[in-house]
Amino acid sequence: MSVTVRVPAKVNVQLAVGAARPDGFHDLANVFLAVGLYDEVTVTPADELTVTCEGPDAAEVPLDRTNLAARAALALAERRGIEPAVHIHIAKDIPVAGGMAGGSADGAGALLACNELWRAGASRAELLAICADLGSDVPFSLVGGAALGTGRGERLTALEVGSTFHWVFAMAGRGLSTPAVFREFDRLAEGRDIPEPVASRDLLDALAKGDADALAAAVSNDLQPAALSLFPELADTLDAGRAAGALTALVSGSGPTTAFLVRDTASAQKVSEALLASGTCRTVRTATAPAPGARVLTTDRTA
Ligand code: C5P
Repeated sequence: MSVTVRVPAKVNVQLAVGAARPDGFHDLANVFLAVGLYDEVTVTPADELTVTCEGPDAAEVPLDRTNLAARAALALAERRGIEPAVHIHIAKDIPVAGGMAGGSADGAGALLACNELWRAGASRAELLAICADLGSDVPFSLVGGAALGTGRGERLTALEVGSTFHWVFAMAGRGLSTPAVFREFDRLAEGRDIPEPVASRDLLDALAKGDADALAAAVSNDLQPAALSLFPELADTLDAGRAAGALTALVSGSGPTTAFLVRDTASAQKVSEALLASGTCRTVRTATAPAPGARVLTTDRTA
């Protein structure tokens, strides 16, 4: 018996960051776009909770109870008063510690998969509440598509997207810690007035119209200066993608993955080749957006 769930990565086309709150988090206006790079999470009954991982970055994935997939299974089991006796296998294609919500994807995927495996019957609202407890980006991994996240990013409003957008992603040679990037944001912000984060009307209109040029003109990421401060070489990657014809280039979330909006598949190919040839990144991937949220792929009750 097993259940497999497929979950997308995300890019933030706007990440407006407010001042640090008393709880240490930051209020955000966070425009998420799910992109077609996926992790697959498979859960199988087992004697105890175990996690395994395959994929190019598998060695960097923690297999203990700090893994968001393990925490998701524990959270659902605790709510239902059952043993979290499950083996969680993650087929990982989303970069690790890359600013593309890979860990969040595994949390949302394991939650949906365990809900199905255990026939736990958690409603969408209950699943979303558990996701929000697990991390700020986890609810979006469940819903996918495009959404505005407010609060610390977990309160979602679905957004219209008028067309398919083409992206290239450049993976860096090392990861960046999200808390470290937020701390650097705070350090750089010291002594400055930080405005309330608000979603850009131009950006939401560009998404709704499916207008890639307008979207390119409107994207923004308030964490980018902090990510560049901790990882200055990312500026060379951004430059290489722009020089190859990307409509815009930005750091994805807290980084260090860099994201390049391009006009079409031909341009995606050209920008990918130029980024690889530049020697400023570890690998490149192309993907389209928006992508659907976490989905059950297979439920095998016979095995
Ligand atoms: O919510 P999540 O566990 O993904 O957040 C990871 C870290 O990122 C937090 O511990 C915090 O340091 C930072 N963060 C923040 N403000 C947010 C979201 C995350 O400061 N809105």
